[in-house]
This record gives sequence, structure tokens and C-alpha cells, in this order.
Amino acid sequence: MATRSTFLTDELNDYITARFSSETDELRRLNTEAEAEGIPAISISPEQINFLQIMLRSINARTVLEIGSLAGYSSIAMSSALPPDGRLYACEFLSAHAQFIRRKVSELGLSNTITVLEGAALETITELFAQSDIVLDAVFIDADKPKYSAYLDLVLPRLRLGGLVIGDNALAWGEVARSATTTFEPHNVQALDAFNTRMSTHPQLLSTLVPLGDGMVVGIKIS
Ligand code: DHB
Ligand code: MG
Repeated sequence: MATRSTFLTDELNDYITARFSSETDELRRLNTEAEAEGIPAISISPEQINFLQIMLRSINARTVLEIGSLAGYSSIAMSSALPPDGRLYACEFLSAHAQFIRRKVSELGLSNTITVLEGAALETITELFAQSDIVLDAVFIDADKPKYSAYLDLVLPRLRLGGLVIGDNALAWGEVARSATTTFEPHNVQALDAFNTRMSTHPQLLSTLVPLGDGMVVGIKIS
């Protein structure tokens, strides 16, 4: 009989965060400044950026696409796991957020590594693909939940074999396994559930769900 999983209490979560955080002073400051400018405090957690960096380094990622960059916390964290000639495309829908990211990227001397694509990601990514024969090593999706599956369909043909697709909020704020969701907008929970199912059954992907933060669904392209 398989061992049941250990329930992750706040105490255990704090234990993990205290040991396996990749949050630098710069990133901490970024979140403080973002909040002061009215950007919602919904970035991924310090142990999640640590996990993303490990994932990127483990596949020698050079070219990364992020869909939904908020204030650039995860963009900047992921960029530090890339080689000097690496590139991260940060898609952000909201203009005020995109401007904030550009300012931070410039302040931190990352303009040669991070490119902000402002606007609707289905459009900006389509444009990026039309303009170049870019091949992606990894894609991190953390944007509008109902579009996760459309983002997957769009990027998968440009993801190399052995490349990764990672989606945030795979546990849908704890609501994903409930038959009737209460607290959060049901369409977002349903979209995340559908995305998890799609990731887990996709013939080109081998996937898992890692319960860090609000959960990350991770798929590696196998065919
Ligand atoms: C929300 C979005 C996120 O991606 C997240 O990680 C947490 C909250 C939101 O839209 O409320
Ligand atoms: Mg998220």
C-alpha cells in the first residue's frame, strides 16, 4: 500500500521556505515596490522560484517564455538560471505592469536577457513566432486561467523535445478537487482542472503536479 502524502501545514510550508528559498533582496524589494504601486501581491512564492530555477538548470534552458509576468518577480528569478546568452520573453497584458517590469529590468541591468511583450499573449506570442524561428526550452504559464489550454496549444509546436511546460495555480487555491467550489470564481477553478487533465493526458507530455505554493503542473515534452 502506497504511503499517503503528508499534509502540508503552515509550519511545514515555513520549514520548506526557510531552507529552499531563492528570494534575493532585489526580489523582495521588487515585491514591496510593486505592492506600493498597487500591483496585486499574487506572485509565486520564494520556494516556487527556487523550483523553477532548478527545472531550468536541469534542462540547460536558454530560451524561456513566461505568460503572465505581473511585476516580473518570476521573470527576474528565472532569468538568473539562464546562461549569459539566455533570453526570457515576459508576456504581460497590463500596460502599467509591463512598464513596472521594464523599469526593474533596466535597473537590474537585465535588458539584454529579458524582453517584455506587452499585450494579449495569444497575439504577442503569435507575432513573436511569425517573426522568428525561435525554439523554446521552457514555458511558464501564470496568466488568465481560462486561456491556459490555448496557451499550451500555441506554444507546444515551438517547444523542443525535452522542454518543459509549467503552469501555476494547479491546485486552484485549494479548490481544484472540490465538486462544488465556493470561495473563488468557479470558471477559473474549472479551467485549471481542465488544464491539469489536459497536461496529464497529453500524448506529447509526461506530467506531474508539484504541490509547492498553489501547485505547479509540470510537463516534459516527450514526443
Ligand atoms: C491569482 C492569480 C494567480 O496566478 C495567483 O498565483 C494567485 C491569485 C488571482 O487572479 O487572484
Ligand atoms: Mg499564479
